[in-house]
Amino acid sequence: MKRPLIVGNWKAHKDLIQAKSWTEEFSRLWPEEGVGAEVIITPAFIHLPLFKDFIAQKNLPWKLAAQDLSSYPSGAYTGQISAEMLSGLVDYVLLGHSERRNYFQESGGMLKKKVEQAVKFHLQPIYCVSEAKMLVPEGVEIVAYEPLFAIGSGQPDTPENASQVAEEIKKGRGVKVLYGGSVKPENAYSFLSQPNLDGLMVGGASLKAWEFWEIIKNVV
Ligand code: PGA
Repeated sequence: MKRPLIVGNWKAHKDLIQAKSWTEEFSRLWPEEGVGAEVIITPAFIHLPLFKDFIAQKNLPWKLAAQDLSSYPSGAYTGQISAEMLSGLVDYVLLGHSERRNYFQESGGMLKKKVEQAVKFHLQPIYCVSEAKMLVPEGVEIVAYEPLFAIGSGQPDTPENASQVAEEIKKGRGVKVLYGGSVKPENAYSFLSQPNLDGLMVGGASLKAWEFWEIIKNVV
């Protein structure tokens, strides 16, 4: 039985108080015996130290991802967060999300540099694409297939089509493929039961601790 990856992407949501109360609620829901999935939480940068301390203090198996990192190394780059700064704080980093490509003009060339920075500092990139034919840089082992029409729309792709796209992405590459786009507790299992899908990327439904838990609970 595969152990799926379930990623909760908070995007630009929650202040410090809201983040703290999410961690408390989610830990109350979390069973002592653990779950059958690798759960990866992707809050904003400002929440990462809070999560890191909370996880250590409660001895939880939750993993952390950053939502982005700089294509530049550490140095005189005001406002940037480098891979080196994130190493030891997170295990994963989301790269190439369509919101970053569209609103922040992230190009293939820039994303290639970001992947290189991530790999150099032992952060595992979760590389997002909206179609199977999109380029995936060398060094990527986890790809998230997120069709544009499905993100935040309440209109997910069909599990069968998502599985077919995942199969295409996997051709000739040893990668895991996650599905993202309007994943909810009601549809999570239909994606996870597809042979080519190795997990889920959850946006809106990860913002409420109980709703994110409903998705994870379905796959335990
Ligand atoms: P959504 O977002 O679950 O709110 O559709 C998914 C994503 O953008 O990763």
